[in-house]
Amino acid sequence: MRLPSLPALLLASATALGLLAATARAQTSPADPFAPKPERAIVAAGPIHDRSGLSPREVEARIDALLARMTLDDKIGQMFAGGWAPDFDDREVREGRVGILSGVETAAEMARLQRLARASRLGIPLIFTRDSLHGYRTLAPVPLGLAASFDPEIIASAGRMTGREASSQGMHLTFSPMVDLTRDPRWGRVVEGAGEDPFLARLFARSMVTGLGEGGLQATLKHFVGYGAVRAGRDYAEAEISVPTLHDLHLPPFRAGFEAGAQVVMAAFSVLNGKPVTADRRLLTGLLRERWGFDGIVISDWDAIRELIPHGVAASREEAAEKAVTAGIDVDLASGLYREQLPGLVASGRASMARIDEAVRRVLRVKFRFGLFDPQATPEVDPAVAARSWATPELRAVALEAARRSIVLLKNDGDLLPLDHPPKRIAVIGAAARDAGDLMGSWGAKAEREDTPLFLDELRARLKPFGTTVDFAEGCDDACLKSDGFEAAAKVAAKADLVVAVLGEPWYLTAESTSRTRLGLPNRQQALLDRLHRSGRPIVLVTLAGRPMAMGEALAKAKAVVYAFSPGTMGGRALVDVLVGATNPSARLPMSLPRAVGQLPFSYDMLPTGRPPKPDDDLSARYVDEAVTPLLPFGFGLSYTRFAYSDLAVVHPRIGAGETQRIEVTVRNVGARAGREIVQLYVHDPVASRSRPLRQLRGLARVDLEPGEAKTVTIDLPIDELAFADEDGRRVLEPGRFEVFVGGSSAATLTTSFELISP
Ligand code: BGC
Repeated sequence: MRLPSLPALLLASATALGLLAATARAQTSPADPFAPKPERAIVAAGPIHDRSGLSPREVEARIDALLARMTLDDKIGQMFAGGWAPDFDDREVREGRVGILSGVETAAEMARLQRLARASRLGIPLIFTRDSLHGYRTLAPVPLGLAASFDPEIIASAGRMTGREASSQGMHLTFSPMVDLTRDPRWGRVVEGAGEDPFLARLFARSMVTGLGEGGLQATLKHFVGYGAVRAGRDYAEAEISVPTLHDLHLPPFRAGFEAGAQVVMAAFSVLNGKPVTADRRLLTGLLRERWGFDGIVISDWDAIRELIPHGVAASREEAAEKAVTAGIDVDLASGLYREQLPGLVASGRASMARIDEAVRRVLRVKFRFGLFDPQATPEVDPAVAARSWATPELRAVALEAARRSIVLLKNDGDLLPLDHPPKRIAVIGAAARDAGDLMGSWGAKAEREDTPLFLDELRARLKPFGTTVDFAEGCDDACLKSDGFEAAAKVAAKADLVVAVLGEPWYLTAESTSRTRLGLPNRQQALLDRLHRSGRPIVLVTLAGRPMAMGEALAKAKAVVYAFSPGTMGGRALVDVLVGATNPSARLPMSLPRAVGQLPFSYDMLPTGRPPKPDDDLSARYVDEAVTPLLPFGFGLSYTRFAYSDLAVVHPRIGAGETQRIEVTVRNVGARAGREIVQLYVHDPVASRSRPLRQLRGLARVDLEPGEAKTVTIDLPIDELAFADEDGRRVLEPGRFEVFVGGSSAATLTTSFELISP
């Protein structure tokens, strides 16, 4: 598909004089920042996402013909997405009372239900869906881990793996990716997204939607919009986001996902700027449809229409349904309020038939594009073939490589890792070392524990040829509420040459409704680590987690630390690959690691302050009890080798709008091992009409280098990407000098600059 060109730029010189901004403001009411603006519409899905084999005109004609035959009840049926349960009543499908079905357990049942739907009076097929955020049965790392690869190809490969496996069972759609940007790891759902940075979040959205589509599964972008900024990281709370921040940070990942072909978007069930999004017409219709031209399905989140009542914006079930349908929710996920209330609302004229037809048209359009009306594009799944098509060695190999690329090395004092010459005796401590669930992570879809090799078994098998004995003690279970096993664990540790502690967040402390107020190792785990430390043996800490934790105390007690998120089905093997050096880690932190909860929300791209932090200045930006810097910055991650950067250059010292800057840098492997470096480009705009972030990620490159080898790495920077949102959400590009920083993390120091000139 064609990418839409960027919005028309407001020319910098005029903006600098205040002319254009004033004119633009005069054209629309300042009270309505989402009013239609001259922004390019999103171009419809390309070949990966449109399997209809029909022209858009033919699709619309087929929809017209269907609509003409549909009763109001048929239409409302298409506007309902229901959950499947073992006592599911077939009449729902036979009578066309449901359009989308979530969570059907088996391939055989999906095939059977689809046969019923195709044989029904109108023959409208069902869409089958399930939340498959990082796999279906075979799991790649959780999304935050995939984002840590900083690698579009790894993310896309996990999407393709998920798509192939889920579609082989009969699935058409996943309720993912979650592209909510978030700076607050107290929110448990950070695990489902790509972290704190909008460039990485866009890259994630684009790669995931494309990969899923190539694998045969369609994506849902969620949760539109602002859920990632819930107050204090408390799940289901409200968010306050200014217009420029919404346009600069929170909307771009959605836009990127739509441009990659996503045709379903889930509205957030949270409140943004005082209004539940489910009832926000300006967002769901004004922005999404009228301004962006999105022509796919807007689905509510689970039960979100009914939740308008406890949100306090609807007095009754009837009013809740009216508000949602008027705002632009096409499909009711689970509440049942459309089926219950729309007949009455249409009869009384409170909901128009035109609005109903419009919603149904979108559902049918997406069904056509998914190829559902064409049995050749979406043939009936044969359960016997389905049984051979999942958990295959090929899918597991993809999951393994993704896991290797998502493990971040945070510390490695004295090059303790890798274990090239494993010691005689190793003590593995921690229940997670032999727990499949903590490797698999949250949102496991149809994953099976028995598919998941355990870390402890993998380590033992790998070290056996070296004659290493691997002892094990739990210390405590993965929740670690009790300390009665600590002494036994410490004894096992004391006998060993090296301790490998596997600690962190059990999978059930991550994802939805798992907000935390303390971000150290959960419960008594730090006390366990402290006890192991007193044994005097060197400790390698393997951290499993769904979010960046406050790791200061833990880091102090371990000589080497790897951060593996929840690495998925093959995570145990990938971890061993990293520990023994079969894989040289390359992943980076997709969120800053905080020192303390009091620093949150935190992101590296903060604005400058009038009083920059100065150690000996009491009246500079600081905390009196903690440093203002993160414990480890965004983009940080070690390797078993070292890289040196030199010869940074911009190809165009002066450049104009619409052009592409090229940045070149030499990266040399100055260590003794082959390794992969993630080269990061940051840009800062030192003088603009609004304060600009201290630095912003603007480009990435991946380079593999043998020891001693050097390569010139080039990163292209489309200049229009430097535009930012003004108070009305319009994009402005301003001339002037831009500073460039290139290196291996957001703390990169090698710098140069270029001039963006007015025409
Ligand atoms: C979550 C969504 C999810 C839905 C269906 C909701 O609680 O917010 O992200 O897609 O459930 O499982």
